[in-house]
Amino acid sequence: MTDPSPATEIALPQRAALARARVAITGELPGSPERLLRDAGHDVVVRSAASPATPEELRALAEDADALLCTLADRVDQSLLDAAPRLRAIANYAVGYDNIELAAAAARGVAVGNTPDVLTDATADLAMALLLAAARRLPEAEADVREGRWDDWNPRGLLGLELRGARLAIVGAGRIGQAVGERAAAFGMELELVGRDDDLHAALGRADVVSLHAPLTPATRHLIDASAIAAMKPGAILVNTARGPLVDQVALADALHRGRLRAAALDVTDPEPLPVDDPLLAAPNLIVLPHIGSATERARAAMGERAARNLIAALAGDPMPWPVRLPSP
Ligand code: DGY
Repeated sequence: MTDPSPATEIALPQRAALARARVAITGELPGSPERLLRDAGHDVVVRSAASPATPEELRALAEDADALLCTLADRVDQSLLDAAPRLRAIANYAVGYDNIELAAAAARGVAVGNTPDVLTDATADLAMALLLAAARRLPEAEADVREGRWDDWNPRGLLGLELRGARLAIVGAGRIGQAVGERAAAFGMELELVGRDDDLHAALGRADVVSLHAPLTPATRHLIDASAIAAMKPGAILVNTARGPLVDQVALADALHRGRLRAAALDVTDPEPLPVDDPLLAAPNLIVLPHIGSATERARAAMGERAARNLIAALAGDPMPWPVRLPSP
């Protein structure tokens, strides 16, 4: 994702070191962040339930914490901050941080950190996997085998899009977008990196495949809406490994039902988890995964380590190694 840097940012006040802080972790995470934090001398409480914490559970967990290690499934808003008067640092176990109200954290002087870089390759690999699966119709082909529709070798069956020479628009030309570009270039695709100052609709009109890598902000919510889809080439493919709300799913489902798009391949949806009866799932030529972009052993362990190191630094009164820039309130 590209970094949605605020126009103006605050410098947090220097804090005294806390030798033995109380740290709350919202789930059991790879990378042993709790061990790293305990080794640094802190008291750590880890929520053990597998399902995401409710707002009430989050508030109870954070109420006497000096630091919070949370995931993108945890909403950190004003009411959580109000319930956690001691909180001085938040480490998000993710590169994206749209689950955190940065203005509220800034107003309280709470440092926020994320885990960039270590999930770039994992997420770019998955975007490429989705692109290939959609272009070559893998789910449909596999279902044919399993459901007894493989009658013969069919010269006209399951024809897909060949990648060499096809044009890929990468919307959001940050770390992950560029890593997808490297991979797509190796497949012979023509690339167009689309930044926030570029003409999105013009780029969409030139692309055979559109891959989304922009952060979720008020400006990018429903970036791909009905008018953006109308600007896309007929028969194009949409890939989203960034954030679900970048896409207006009603408009996307409509475009897939009409055959306006060849396919869509999503690792992220709105909401998450997507209910099994969500109308989007009835759309044809759709691949949906449960937000597994960073789900490699290496990436998830490194994310845990970075999140812990962010908190250890903040609790020592030092700047976080991977800080999120906070907007001036
Ligand atoms: C992130 O870190 O923001 C990713 O979406 C996690 O997979």
